[in-house]
This record gives sequence, structure tokens and C-alpha cells, in this order.
Amino acid sequence: MQVERAKGVYLYTRDGKKILDAISSWWVNLHGHANPRIAAAIAEQARKLEHVIIAGFTHDAAEELARRLRKWVMPQLTHLFFSDDGSTAVEVALKMAVQHFSNQGRGEKREIVALEHGYHGDTAGAMSVSDDSPFTEPFAAMRYPVHRVHAAYCYRCPVGLKRETCHIECVGQLETLLAERGEKIAAVIVEPLLQGAGGMIVHPAEFLQKARALCTKHDVLLIADEVLTGFGRTGKMFACDIAGVTPDLMCLSKGITGGFLPMGVTLCTDRVEAAFGSEDRRHTFYHGHSYTGNALACAAANASLQIFDDEPVFDRIATITRIHGERLLQLRQYAVVGDTRQIGSIGALELRAEDAGYLSAMRPKLYQFFLERGVLLRPLGNVVYVLPPYVIEPEELHRVYDVITEAVEALF
Ligand SMILES: Cc1ncc(COP(=O)(O)O)c(C=O)c1O
Repeated sequence: MQVERAKGVYLYTRDGKKILDAISSWWVNLHGHANPRIAAAIAEQARKLEHVIIAGFTHDAAEELARRLRKWVMPQLTHLFFSDDGSTAVEVALKMAVQHFSNQGRGEKREIVALEHGYHGDTAGAMSVSDDSPFTEPFAAMRYPVHRVHAAYCYRCPVGLKRETCHIECVGQLETLLAERGEKIAAVIVEPLLQGAGGMIVHPAEFLQKARALCTKHDVLLIADEVLTGFGRTGKMFACDIAGVTPDLMCLSKGITGGFLPMGVTLCTDRVEAAFGSEDRRHTFYHGHSYTGNALACAAANASLQIFDDEPVFDRIATITRIHGERLLQLRQYAVVGDTRQIGSIGALELRAEDAGYLSAMRPKLYQFFLERGVLLRPLGNVVYVLPPYVIEPEELHRVYDVITEAVEALF
């Protein structure tokens, strides 16, 4: 479908259709399409400086962004490294974690732990830490080995317990692994509180808190991939804020520019950075992309963060959260709805399916059904989720849920 223009939550196609973008165009858009404040900031920046090599040079927009981000992130995350998107922000974090130890003469501490159902991007390293899926299957030989441990997928509890009575026993696998192999492990990477592409799986905050404590105990770095969850998506600026957890490295992208331009940022603590501070040039972190720290992307990010300062963004998110809650509760009454999950601006329902998973036959039917009714929703197999731009009006969000309810009644 060819999109000619967009405004707010709507996409306008060349053949005259108006489509409500209920997934923020792959989770990037925060303040509406063609937001005039961000558009103006990019235009102004383009007249001043469009781009400059970020090695050995810097520029006002990048420095301003560093200042703004430091205002929002946990105070321990003092250093930041620019890259191009979510996948590269993850690659940077993984490489930094490994080199952090090798620079200290601990090259044996280089293994990575990742979670079941995790998704961290499509480049080779990010694919390696992502769980096996149709996205990774053809590339099995290109993926390096990682340790994979249980995630807190309560609806399909990996240790067969019930959330109401459990004590997060699912973290036990990570506990055992770190106790046995901590000497060889550099980092644990997680999507904090919400695993996105794996099925919009919401974790109890205790899972993240316990993972943090285990990493600290075994001198293993915790990487929080906040590529999806960052910038208010979970109801606070970052998911880690909800759990009161400070990671050693944090990956940001997607919403960082309000959905206008690609950009990745990896933040780290003084402790992680200190290993790179030596005079020995072999200890340099040799990682750079041509467009890293692009001035237009920085200007967009600064404008987006200014909107957080000036406009009632978190009130908008709270309204979305309330409507998710009301409408998901109603949807639970349908037999085909196995589970409902929500956190902040994200609401999801997992439908019962014989062929549950990304390739479920439900998916194409649902996608088409929604599109025919002017709503863009891209179910993850049998999981339908709503992840709208924050500027969506209550009646627009209700319309999205009306269409989902219609689908649940008509198709199953
Ligand atoms: C948690 C997470 N990490 C990383 C990525 C990769 O980001 P990108 O598509 O910008 O490379 C994604 C993309 O969906 C993601 O959800």
C-alpha cells in the first residue's frame, strides 16, 4: 500500500484510504505522524548542519541530546554511544560488554545469556541473542552460541506454576547458570518487563529485579534492551524505572526521534566505560557507522524530548492505559481469548490457537480483517496487540478495540 502522507494517527494512501496506525509504524511513532514541532526542528537543523563525522568531532545537537538523555536516565548511566538503529544499539552493547572484560585481561569472560522469546534485532549479533524464530531460522549457521534461559512468560509458565502463588521460580535457571559459569559470562541481555516481538509478554518486575541481583552477585553485566520499552511506552520513561533497576548498559532506539529518523544509543556506567580509558589504543572501542550521531536525527530527538517537557505526554499515556484495561477486560469473556496483557501504552490479547506462534494461520486473516476496516494492526501470530502513538484520542482507541472485538466475534 502506498502512503502519500500521514497526520497524527492516520496514514493516507495514494488510492484514497485513511488508515489508523494502531502500531505506531513498528513502534517508533510517539507524538503523531508529521508532528509539526519535530518536522520544524529537522528543517532548521538541516539549514545549519546536516551531518558531520562523529569521530574526533561533535556538534551542538548531539551534545544537547546527551544532556537531555542524562536528565531522564538513571544517574549511573553516565556515558553514551551513538549508532543507527535498535539492532546496532544492541550490537554495541554486546561488543562493549565483551571488550570491557577483555581490556582487563579477562578475555575468557565473553559468553552471553539471553532469554527465551527474546528479540533484539536482525543483524547477526542481535539475531544470535534473539530466540529461535522464523526470523532467524535460515541463518542458524551465522548465529554465535548463547546461553538461553527461561523468561517470565506467566501465561505459559516455563516451570508450570501460577503467578498468584509463585515466587518467580522461572529465574532459577539463570541463577544456576550464573552460579556454575559466571566466570565465563560477560553479560545477560533482557528486554525489561516487556518482550515485544516474542509476543508482547509482560514480565513481573521481580523477574528483572532478581536478574539484576544475580548479575551483580556474579560480576556479570546486565544489558537492558529498551529499544521498544523506552520513551514512555511502559508508563514510565524507561521500563527499568518501574522495577527500580539500573542496568550496566542500556539500548535505546525506535521512539528516540519520535519516529522521524533512525538512531540508536547505548548508554553505560562509569565502571563499564573505565575499561576503555587506557592509553593502549588496542583498548579503544572500534565501532562506528557512517551516519552515527547524525545531526538531523539528534534534532528530531531533541524536539521529541522537548515535547515530553512541554506537553502532557504521560497523561496521554495514562488515558491509553486506562482504555486498554477496560477493553481487554471485556475481551476476556470470549472463549478464544486465552490471555490479556498490558503495560503502559501497550495492550495485547493472546488468542487460543492450535498453531500458536508467529506463523499461526490466524495472522493473515486478522491482518486483512483489520486493514479492510481501516486499522493497521499486525498481529504477532495469534497475539493481537495495540501500541498506538500517544496522541491517539480515546474514541479512536475505542474504535480500534471495536474492530478487534468484531474480529473475535466474526472470525472465531
Ligand atoms: C527490543 C528490540 N530490540 C531491538 C530491536 C531492533 O531494532 P531495529 O529494528 O531498529 O534494528 C527491536 C525491533 O523491533 C526490538 O523490539
